[in-house]
Amino acid sequence: MAVVKVPVSRVIKGHKAVRDALRDTQTYSSDLQGDADVRTYRQLPLEVDPPRHHLYRSALAPIFVKPAIEKHEAAFVLSTKKLLAEFLSDPSRDVIPHLALPIVMHNLGILYGREQDVKEWISWGPDVWTATGPQRDGSVLHAYIDRVYREAMNSDSDDVWHRIAYMEIDGSQVSEIEFRGIVSVMLAGGRDTMVKMIAGILWHLGNNSADKAMLISQPQLIDSAVQEFLRYLTPIPWMGRTTFPETGATNLPEGRYVNISFVSGNFDPEIFPDPTTINLRRERNAHVAFGFGPHTCIGNHLAEFEVRVFLQVLLSMNLSWSISPDTAILYYPDELASVPLVIEKLFISV
Ligand code: HEM
Repeated sequence: MAVVKVPVSRVIKGHKAVRDALRDTQTYSSDLQGDADVRTYRQLPLEVDPPRHHLYRSALAPIFVKPAIEKHEAAFVLSTKKLLAEFLSDPSRDVIPHLALPIVMHNLGILYGREQDVKEWISWGPDVWTATGPQRDGSVLHAYIDRVYREAMNSDSDDVWHRIAYMEIDGSQVSEIEFRGIVSVMLAGGRDTMVKMIAGILWHLGNNSADKAMLISQPQLIDSAVQEFLRYLTPIPWMGRTTFPETGATNLPEGRYVNISFVSGNFDPEIFPDPTTINLRRERNAHVAFGFGPHTCIGNHLAEFEVRVFLQVLLSMNLSWSISPDTAILYYPDELASVPLVIEKLFISV
């Protein structure tokens, strides 16, 4: 999920302040509709407060619990191996569209039982809102969602969209607009975020052969490495909240939006000594890359699992690569100037 766009007036920073704000859903509400330039509905469960939030969350939980994900391990490994081998047949191509995005979309196709759609999802690129070109536009995503909704209503298949279309929230079947809201975030959530993870890992290990050798010789460090990559790459740097819940409100004040800065929490030197250094052995890594509190990323187990599989497959190949100068990375300003905000293009030499 790309950062939801809202015009913010204030930023909440620092590990403690960020966690406190994320827990305080009364003061910092998610009852807002972001991305107003490309959509007219709420992303769910993202843009609703407790207690209703909990109903969406618990209805969707069975798709994202650990056992539901880990049962696909063999399929994830096979797919990741195949896509890495295909990429390495011509490694001069940009990693983002030719390796990272295909890995992530194939994994999602496996989990959702929608492998027939993977090619189409890949064609949208890393950000669903720029599927038609640089101009933000929701038409491609929405045409897909409308189509799968009609299919789900007219079939008795057992795939994920069918299950969602017939899900009950508070005793009522989800509406078409709720279906849009849920599917939209299920397709956007694990896309650019996971692409940044895979690209960021290749970038770091390509620049740092000592870390690569360490993970190969001590695979028990892979779990702490996954957490450190999540902290350092913080794929969603911040998210908006509103100090004035929007449902049913008129005369909404300007300046109601605040940003909660996950990245400031993840680079808080009080919590993470030497925060701009990637330390794959870092202990007690209480990062907020998945947020915190009731809206903590529902895809967190999936994301961690995908990253772990990717690392295991990559390291088992014993490859040597370096980062090519055509790589384009946008860095944060000031004290985070060495930390990638967006990895736009990644080229490697093998
Ligand atoms: C490394 C990968 C990922 C990162 C860093 C990430 C990050 C986040 C963050 C920070 C939030 C909280 C937003 C907030 O508090 O407003 C969130 C929520 C969410 N994420 Fe992820 N995410 C990742 C992968 C995924 C995946 C793979 C999926 C599913 C396919 C997913 C689906 C969602 C959903 C549905 C929510 C809303 C949860 C709620 O509001 O209760 N995410 N994610």
